[in-house]
Amino acid sequence: MNVLLIGSGGREHAIALSTSRSSLLSKLFLIPGNPGTEQLGENVNIDFKDQPAVTAFCFEKNIEFVIIGPEQPLVDGLSDYLRASGIKVFGPDKAAAEIESSKSFAKQLMQKYNIPTASFSEFNKEDYEKAVEYVKSSSLPLVIKADGLAAGKGVLICNSLNEALTGLENIFVNSEFGDAGNKIIIEEFMTGEEASIFAVTDGENFVLLPSAQDHKRIGNNDTGKNTGGMGAYAPAPIITDELLKVIETAIIKPTIDALTSEGRAFIGCLYCGLMITETGPKVVEFNCRFGDPETQAVLPLLDGDILKLFYSAADGHLDESSVKYSGGTAICVVAASKGYPDGYEKGFEITGLNLDDKNIVIYHAGTKRSGNKIVTNGGRVIGVTATIPEGDLKKAKEKAYSALSSIKFNGIYFRSDIADKGINRHS
Ligand code: AMP
Ligand code: GLY
Repeated sequence: MNVLLIGSGGREHAIALSTSRSSLLSKLFLIPGNPGTEQLGENVNIDFKDQPAVTAFCFEKNIEFVIIGPEQPLVDGLSDYLRASGIKVFGPDKAAAEIESSKSFAKQLMQKYNIPTASFSEFNKEDYEKAVEYVKSSSLPLVIKADGLAAGKGVLICNSLNEALTGLENIFVNSEFGDAGNKIIIEEFMTGEEASIFAVTDGENFVLLPSAQDHKRIGNNDTGKNTGGMGAYAPAPIITDELLKVIETAIIKPTIDALTSEGRAFIGCLYCGLMITETGPKVVEFNCRFGDPETQAVLPLLDGDILKLFYSAADGHLDESSVKYSGGTAICVVAASKGYPDGYEKGFEITGLNLDDKNIVIYHAGTKRSGNKIVTNGGRVIGVTATIPEGDLKKAKEKAYSALSSIKFNGIYFRSDIADKGINRHS
């Protein structure tokens, strides 16, 4: 079949690479794709916000299946639009995607169905004074979250009353997060280690992919500003088989069932961000799509046919046997532009991208072709993934960093401690 993949990041490069190996695939198209996906399919320059144009393109190219990578088109209802035209889609419709686009919806769903998460209260912009009173009477630290999508920036961890009050003022008075901050959640601060679990589901049955751990902060030892993710490894040793069983029965299954009972059946990848606390796993957030950069570490660990898995989910008959965990280990280290997540310069030539090592994949994210060169074009520029067949995270880390050392661009920045938490847990 002809398949269309929406998106342009490292996550989409990883999905494209796995999809390109499927025996079901005739031709892969990408809107818009990136220089890394050029060898895997045809990059097409259509604005994916233009839903009629995307649909018309599917008819023109005889595309019967669309995979949607990022959250924004899902939240905007691209799946709904394509499905209404008879095209199969991997990715939830707008109503199910609310699990990511409205933290208030997600928290209320969890409360209603007893899914473990931090306790919370919510406030609208008009309730500014009430929110102030609430934080004054709360214990610290506390967490303030914008209800809507805020590109990963809408979360404030407040260690002092002053920070919390300034946060409220910035959100409600100075509209720091725009309309995304018209409503906020104030929640209990959870202590523990984080992990990400991906469930591929048809709305009823699901397959859990190997667990992963992201590194959200810009600096080593989880210091500095939050980013889109500076690296990931999989599987995450903190997620033991026993813990995974708990996560599956107390969190994943009840959430998928809850969405279906609410008339919002979720078809696609449900991303569950967890805090492993002393009292067990609790949900930090749900996303309505694969994580980035976790996907770049998780997909290389799957044997089988991922397109078959995705298509079967979209078709409503999940084929649970289409992929299985290889038993290996993978680590993805993100190389970013100096200055990210704040301002940075673009347009620097990237060299050393043609590594010839079957254990290494360089995923493109913020890159662009400029003549016969590849240049930087974003904050997170590339992700270098090393995959090894055994469970030796330390060895995988050494391989990834050794590959990264031969890649150069002006202002290259990366964390040097990706996977250390997992390595230390083993030793
Ligand atoms: P979110 O966008 O909800 O995933 O939040 C971004 C990051 O903020 C998470 O990955 C956590 O590191 C942190 N965070 C969010 N909520 C909490 C919480 N209730 N307790 C502790 N940390 C949190
Ligand atoms: N890696 C975090 C995210 O994809 O939201």
